[in-house]
Amino acid sequence: MCCSTLTSLVATALADFAAILEAAKLEEAKARYLGKEGSLTALLKGLGKLPPEERKVAGAAINEAKSCIETALGARREALRFARLEAQLAAEALDVTLPGRRQSGGGLHPVTRTLDRIEQLFRSIGFTVADGPEIETDWHNFTALNTPENHPARSMHDTFYLQDAPGVLLRTHTSPVQIRSMLAHVEKYRGVPLPELRVICPGRVYRVDSDATHSPMFHQVEGLWVGKGVSFADLKGVIADFLRNFFESDDLNVRFRPSFFPFTEPSAEIDVAFMQGALKGRWLEIAGCGMVHPNVLRSGGFDPEQVTGFAFGFGPDRLTMLRYGIHDLRLFFENDLRFLSQFQ
Ligand code: PHE
Repeated sequence: MCCSTLTSLVATALADFAAILEAAKLEEAKARYLGKEGSLTALLKGLGKLPPEERKVAGAAINEAKSCIETALGARREALRFARLEAQLAAEALDVTLPGRRQSGGGLHPVTRTLDRIEQLFRSIGFTVADGPEIETDWHNFTALNTPENHPARSMHDTFYLQDAPGVLLRTHTSPVQIRSMLAHVEKYRGVPLPELRVICPGRVYRVDSDATHSPMFHQVEGLWVGKGVSFADLKGVIADFLRNFFESDDLNVRFRPSFFPFTEPSAEIDVAFMQGALKGRWLEIAGCGMVHPNVLRSGGFDPEQVTGFAFGFGPDRLTMLRYGIHDLRLFFENDLRFLSQFQ
């Protein structure tokens, strides 16, 4: 074996490696030189046939050629790995100048905002907030509220009854929570002097009704104040104060127009008129109210000889429409984001 054989073998290997662009191909090339059947391995195997005096020199030369090829192989491996990384980085490059995809934040429904506001204002004058079932018994929704058997509100045209469940319906107002609150209050303070009861009851209610200003599901906030000597004057003060705070305006006329509800006596509708804006000067009905009927106090476990009370029922949907100048109630329940996102 002569030196030039080795030199050209190394040169061929180096050229071979340099021309290869894929890692797998490089490993195949490695096998051709350094593998079991590789040309350099064959030379090493041939050493044994050489005379002893030549063996040492030839062995050293072959080993040098081997390490030369191994170094080149290592370098080429590294170069291919680097090139692959570069290509990958280029392919996956991010354009940081592209406008971002925004995640739109959620927000509170305008009616929820109104309910929160009403709760906050009434809490500030010592009212608690009570909850009640939307599927109610006929007794809580009507009978206990002094609403007689033949009252039109009890008819199928006005009320959603539950099929196969006699005596059960979707509540038509939040007034049944008056009854539940009174009964719970009396029970809680049994055996001790009864403190005043001041409560509001916000929630969903249901009636067979649907047009631009009526929806089969809508909201109410019932209010109730029962105690010794509670009068109509207290009712007027609380309501007028609440409305001025709610609309953030002292320029507001409030009137109490005589009316009828089975569960209050005397009863009134509450109207407001704004002194400015598009609705200036028009009386708008926004609530019903009155002094709690003695029969209702009795249903709630109170003694009408000892205490009096007033109650009122607001329509928060209506209040929201007035506050934001919305003309169609149905917009609240269609869940159109173009409408809802205006309140965020
Ligand atoms: N519950 C009555 C309604 O739905 C409103 C109301 C509540 C009236 C309390 C008087 C007192 O129309």
